[in-house]
Amino acid sequence: MFVAPEGESAGSQSFHLSAKNVTVRFGEVTALDHFTANVPRGTVGLLGPNGAGKSTFIKASLGLLELDDGSIRVGSLDSRHQSLAIRDEVGYMPEHDCLLQSMNAVELVAYLAQISGMGRRDSMQRSHEVLDFVGIDEERYRLIKSYSTGMKQKVKLAQAIVHDPSLLFLDEPTSGMDPQGREEMLDLVRRIGSSEKTVIVSSHILQEVERVCDYVVIISSGKLIRAGETLALVAGEEGVHSLTIRGDSKAIADYVGALGELCEVLRKTGEGDRQTTLLLRGCGDGRAIFRLAAEGGVQVRSYRPETLDLEEVFLRAFKRGESNGN
Ligand SMILES: Nc1ncnc2c1ncn2[C@@H]1O[C@H](COP(=O)(O)OP(=O)(O)O)[C@@H](O)[C@H]1O
Ligand SMILES: [Mg+2]
Repeated sequence: MFVAPEGESAGSQSFHLSAKNVTVRFGEVTALDHFTANVPRGTVGLLGPNGAGKSTFIKASLGLLELDDGSIRVGSLDSRHQSLAIRDEVGYMPEHDCLLQSMNAVELVAYLAQISGMGRRDSMQRSHEVLDFVGIDEERYRLIKSYSTGMKQKVKLAQAIVHDPSLLFLDEPTSGMDPQGREEMLDLVRRIGSSEKTVIVSSHILQEVERVCDYVVIISSGKLIRAGETLALVAGEEGVHSLTIRGDSKAIADYVGALGELCEVLRKTGEGDRQTTLLLRGCGDGRAIFRLAAEGGVQVRSYRPETLDLEEVFLRAFKRGESNGN
């Protein structure tokens, strides 16, 4: 059985994959442009818009593409000279359809296991185990050409983990799936990532990456935009808090006026007549805020350090890039 223990924290600080100054060109197009990134163990999101270079980076790491410059190391292996050894250690779920349509899932996954060196009996047993894990039931005996996109995605995942690799590349694993299928796929990714494995998941969907990845590498136009622990990336600026209050509009207006004397009001967003969220800088632990609220008949719903979503991180990174003249 493919065992992915729940609840273990993924990720030590050692890097599982390192790219240094990697450039890959397709004729006139520079798909990776001096791309440098260190990928730690754990569940790692490779995030960027379509055409950013995500698939190119994955294929280059597997040694499937030639580098025009730079180097990629997977564990202790070099992608240029040891691509066969890398493929033993690595699982790959490609973005596009890669399944032989005229086989059933058990045969196909067992066949791919045999190609990676497993004996016939073991490969059949293992095929059943990984198909159980991804949730392909009796349909496993039907020809793949009769499968829905969601089922094909699951078989693609099954073949990627059949040889129990320590590093897994999943290229847009939820692509083409309906909302329920996406949930199931993200749950599988989370379960695999909570075992000892490193899972690199490419996606252009911020919310997905934010939900399943402990570390994020943001790429755009073949360049590294930002990389870091998800929690650190979404942490807001030091000393900036978000305050949500309720009260009648006059009380809120007076309160916001009084707050302005106390600290800096960076942003004010109304959420209906009676509720308002403020972004504040320099209000400290909030004691004065609570006191003022009590005096002014305003109810404090929450007061907490600012957190960004990845979209905001993305936008800020781009803004910074522009102001640096990149
Ligand atoms: N085989 C190829 N031939 C020519 N251009 C390619 C090829 N593969 C990728 N590209 C180009 O390289 C850039 C990066 O592509 P890709 O890595 O597929 O991006 P992503 O996976 O982030 O959507 C795009 O401009 C794409 O059109
Ligand atoms: Mg792609």
